[in-house]
Amino acid sequence: MKFALFTKLALLTSATGVLGTTVAYDRAYDDRSTPLTSVACSDGPHGLIVRGYTTFGDLPNFPFIGGAEAVEGYDSANCGSCWNITYTNPAGRNKTITMLAVDGTTRGFVLGVRAADILTGGQAVHLGRVNATAKRVAVSVCRL
Ligand SMILES: *[C@@H]1O[C@H](CO)[C@@H](O)[C@H](O)[C@H]1NC(C)=O
Ligand SMILES: *[C@@H]1O[C@H](CO)[C@@H](O)[C@H](O)[C@H]1NC(C)=O
Ligand SMILES: *[C@@H]1O[C@H](CO)[C@@H](O)[C@H](O)[C@H]1NC(C)=O
Repeated sequence: MKFALFTKLALLTSATGVLGTTVAYDRAYDDRSTPLTSVACSDGPHGLIVRGYTTFGDLPNFPFIGGAEAVEGYDSANCGSCWNITYTNPAGRNKTITMLAVDGTTRGFVLGVRAADILTGGQAVHLGRVNATAKRVAVSVCRL
């Protein structure tokens, strides 16, 4: 019985597209002048340069940009994917931000400190890597 319930919950989770994940920070994504040639989503056909952007600061969603595990490497088909990331603080309050995947990462997601601080209520550096949930959303939510 317990197993059956667990299976049903797991299916529900995948059907809604909400993934349990983790979010870390990297100050590299905070610098608006960084050229997009420095990330995986650069000059390939799925990259961001062909869409008319040159630097991080050109992206309409900046500073809500970063790395996503879904971006497997250079010119991934998941370049430019848009994600709602929800963090639940220790008091049980949820905060959701919308981020644009411009780069890969080995695990979960990586945001700049500015975005990670908005997600965590200013606790990004103190907490390091946090648990979160992520849901892929339409690229229009990232204003692409
Ligand atoms: C907070 O977010 C979690 C994970 O996305 C969700 O399961 C929960 O229902 C949310 N809680 C509220 C109060 O919205
Ligand atoms: C994604 O987050 C935005 C706010 O950043 C919100 O307006 C939108 O409803 C969310 N979409 C989904 C599918 O959760
Ligand atoms: C994050 O999730 C892991 C795995 O589910 C869990 O072991 C850990 O306690 C969680 N950390 C926090 C701070 O909730």
